[in-house]
Amino acid sequence: MPTGPYAEIPRVDAYEKVRGRAIYGTDNNPAGLLQGAFATATIGKGRITAMDLSQAKAVEGVRLIVAHEQTGSLQPARFIMRHGFAFQSYSPVLTPNVAYRGQPVALVVADTLEAAIDASSRIRVSYEEEPFAATLDSERAEAVPQAEAATAWPIEDIVVGDAETAYATAAVKADATYTMSTQHQNPMELIGTVAAWEGERLTVYEGTQNAGACKFGLAEQLGIPAENITVISPYIGGGFGQKNTMQSQLVLTAFAARELGRPVKVVVPRRQIFHDSSFRPATRQRVRLGADSTGRFTAALYEVDAQTSMHDFFQSEHADTAARHYGYGAFRSFARLVRTDTPTPGYMRAPFEHATAFAIESTVDELAYQLGMDPVQIRLLNDTETDIVTGLPHSSRHISECLRRGAEMFGWERRTPAPRSMVAENGDLIGMGVAIGLYAGAGGPNRASIRATRDGVIQISLGVHEMGQGIRTAIANVVARHLDVSPESVTAILGDTRGVPQMLTAGSWGSASSIPAAETACEALREALDALGTNAPEGSSPAEILALADRDVLSVEAATFAPGQTREALGEIDTGHVAPSGPTYPDFITYSYAAHFVEVRVEPATRRIRVPRVVSMFDCGRVLSPRTARSQAIGGVVWGIGGALREAGEVDERYGGILNADIAEYLVPVNADIGSIEVGFIDEPDPLVNRSGVKGLGEVVLVGVAPAITNAVYHATGVRARHLPVRIEDLI
Ligand code: MOS
Repeated sequence: MPTGPYAEIPRVDAYEKVRGRAIYGTDNNPAGLLQGAFATATIGKGRITAMDLSQAKAVEGVRLIVAHEQTGSLQPARFIMRHGFAFQSYSPVLTPNVAYRGQPVALVVADTLEAAIDASSRIRVSYEEEPFAATLDSERAEAVPQAEAATAWPIEDIVVGDAETAYATAAVKADATYTMSTQHQNPMELIGTVAAWEGERLTVYEGTQNAGACKFGLAEQLGIPAENITVISPYIGGGFGQKNTMQSQLVLTAFAARELGRPVKVVVPRRQIFHDSSFRPATRQRVRLGADSTGRFTAALYEVDAQTSMHDFFQSEHADTAARHYGYGAFRSFARLVRTDTPTPGYMRAPFEHATAFAIESTVDELAYQLGMDPVQIRLLNDTETDIVTGLPHSSRHISECLRRGAEMFGWERRTPAPRSMVAENGDLIGMGVAIGLYAGAGGPNRASIRATRDGVIQISLGVHEMGQGIRTAIANVVARHLDVSPESVTAILGDTRGVPQMLTAGSWGSASSIPAAETACEALREALDALGTNAPEGSSPAEILALADRDVLSVEAATFAPGQTREALGEIDTGHVAPSGPTYPDFITYSYAAHFVEVRVEPATRRIRVPRVVSMFDCGRVLSPRTARSQAIGGVVWGIGGALREAGEVDERYGGILNADIAEYLVPVNADIGSIEVGFIDEPDPLVNRSGVKGLGEVVLVGVAPAITNAVYHATGVRARHLPVRIEDLI
């Protein structure tokens, strides 16, 4: 089998997608389909005291209104961080409670979507209101030290050496607080479910990153055997963590379909998604960083307040990443979870790392200026071979290489160090900034089943979901290389519970957990082909060998685990749970890395910020599919630009909810905001983390973009941005 970098192949599902033949969850319209729409809560918190459904029921075509009085047979959802399946433990419409503004209070099902929407607006609800905390800074928001929070597994603060003393005696110091607004995912594909029953059997079509959790979680909530449920999610129109778990509409849609004996579709409108799904929690971070006179970091004190909900503790892993940015002499973290009356925040592309990098990398930049050092040099100086927290070696850490290659591609040497020292011909202030990012190298168990046919088709079933990131293309590339067949002959069955168990695809572990299983399955298939004893000439294809053996088809199965895992981990994915491993393995730790170089132009009078140019270099281990990897990386950089300059959920403390709950007012970058983005990959396989040498890519691409931008803004203007998003008013 050839080794070395993978060849670039076109996206294998490109034709299906551009011709509209890729069928997404709620594209499915089974015969007899009815449509659902939610009525939502108009108070910040409280209890429903009465519901008047008479006007709603009078709308022509209304078939059913599901409110809390009908849902007594349903079990509440269980939170994924408590070995459950849902984004939160709170299930709207199962009780008269209102936990936050905008939660569903009733589901109306009708012959047409228009009738359902019309009727949902005619439901009259009376409430008993309660005071609430809408934001991290609300008076009623309750802060709990994470180490003391009642969580499924404790996350203790990290203590390495005596960071307080080392900081107190450091020659050079920086101390600052960084805040970030909530951010909200807006994948193109809305959250939605189509549920269709045939007798006792239920089929669910839904765009999800976790078909296994939908299957087992739904079984639990409906009180039926999981084997009666099939979840089908071959394509997802963007996940980014929002579709990690069961959402509120799933059980209610399935319930309504069962009541009516007809298939039901519910597509949650974007405004409602802002109010009743997970989001990136608001954070407040304080970093104190000390260095000796040569610029070596002697101490880092890292504090984070991260938003959570009243009903769940969404655990903060900000400090874990903060501790791995550099080889600090000593490190201490303090994490607090701040409870607010909101949905439970959750995983959103680089859920913690995006915020952490903003705080750490801004502080590093500040220290570099104090020391009169080049921002790239100070980062190279503080790189480390060993993890300061565990003392373990890094399986691979090419961050210095990313910095060196990125600096060269960017032309960093043209930068003059002093703030406001570079001015364009039109008078724009030019700023150049750098920052690094990292993301845990996780993996997990996976099952694979592979099937070769005499007519040349290779079909592989793996536990992973295609959400646009390109995993189908990566799988085709890897299987084609292993079996010496063309990528077009490879078909993957993904996101479908009729195949092997469909564990959560998230945490940038999709490739690292499924590709080793694919490779192992290819190897097993080769052995099984050899065992047919055909004496086929060297280099024969599976189809040729099957023809010689006069067989139509040959199937084999395989299972793989992450380092340190045992077969027990398979029991978890077989029952719809997650079983990730990493970044700490028995003998090493693994992270992926990014170095971003950004040029900004700041218009001197209006202070308008533009980002004409970004160069980013990544270490994600082996690149499996160069084209889709590059595309994923560019997408991450675009997101980083939005995260730095645009994205913020706006909340009015008096009412709760989100004011700018649509993509007209929740600003994301558009084409006109994006200049040149050049990305590159080290493409060195990680020698230890798995047989495929792959770390993760999907999230690290975003990490560090924001501080590279704000560091460039400082270089351009001399103003240090300590809140995201950075706005014109911050620079005046
Ligand atoms: Mo990701 S934010 O773990 O889907």
